[in-house]
Amino acid sequence: MYPIVRREKLADKIYLMDVKAPRVAQYCEPGQFVIVKIDEEGERIPLTICDYDREAGTITIVFQTVGASTERMAYLQEGDAFQDFVGPLGCASDLIDEDIEELKKKKILFVAGGVGTAPVYPQVKWLHEHGVDCDVIMGSKTKDLLILVDQMKEVATNLYVTTDDGSYGFHGMGTNQLQELWDAGKRYDHCVAIGPMIMMKFVCKLTKELGIPTVVSMNPIMVDGTGMCGACRLIVGGEVKFACVDGPEFDGHQVDFDQAMKRQAQYKTEEGRAMLKLQE
Ligand code: FES
Repeated sequence: MYPIVRREKLADKIYLMDVKAPRVAQYCEPGQFVIVKIDEEGERIPLTICDYDREAGTITIVFQTVGASTERMAYLQEGDAFQDFVGPLGCASDLIDEDIEELKKKKILFVAGGVGTAPVYPQVKWLHEHGVDCDVIMGSKTKDLLILVDQMKEVATNLYVTTDDGSYGFHGMGTNQLQELWDAGKRYDHCVAIGPMIMMKFVCKLTKELGIPTVVSMNPIMVDGTGMCGACRLIVGGEVKFACVDGPEFDGHQVDFDQAMKRQAQYKTEEGRAMLKLQE
């Protein structure tokens, strides 16, 4: 069993948990994910690793309640435990394989949307710990849904916070903020965008126009995380890929977002799932 050693409500329907899982904490890298299961009847839930403490043997996960399984998870308290906590899974972020001295020469930007801030945080923290500067644009619909602002302030070189309704920070979306920075003369060599699919689609549209290579994390489309259910099937550069096995990170300018979003919507209904099976 994997006990919860800390539980915090970060915002409406968004929770953070530190879970004791020493083996996962020992080997995980930023960009990877875990699959959790509450008990025998519970569904498998894939979640990107938000932070890890190798000494304490803990993994931090952040999740939003979006259905029955995550609702059940939100009821768990400190001292309760997960039956399964499998990982680390997926490929680590490409950035951590690059030469540190080369990385230090790059101007790196992260764009995080909503709960996508959680998987962005360990990458920014890792870069900060290795002396690599990077800017972060993080946004949400409204002030009350912003998460990890203080933690991100500690590790980002420049942090730009946006809200769609203007209740905190820059009034607008991450793409508006990026355009404004660009117009003011800021330049970036590399961008990582993580958040809702629609947000990643528009960030990629803009960064393509601006000529900034962009990596996206397709974890929002994962369901069982095993390569078996087919939910995370997507087209990247004309080839079929599975987010949970081949990703979750991909070249954002090569991802067919419209196909992935259509598929994600279809996957939500039983009828849609049957249709997808017939098409494959
Ligand atoms: Fe099921 Fe990838 S999440 S195949």
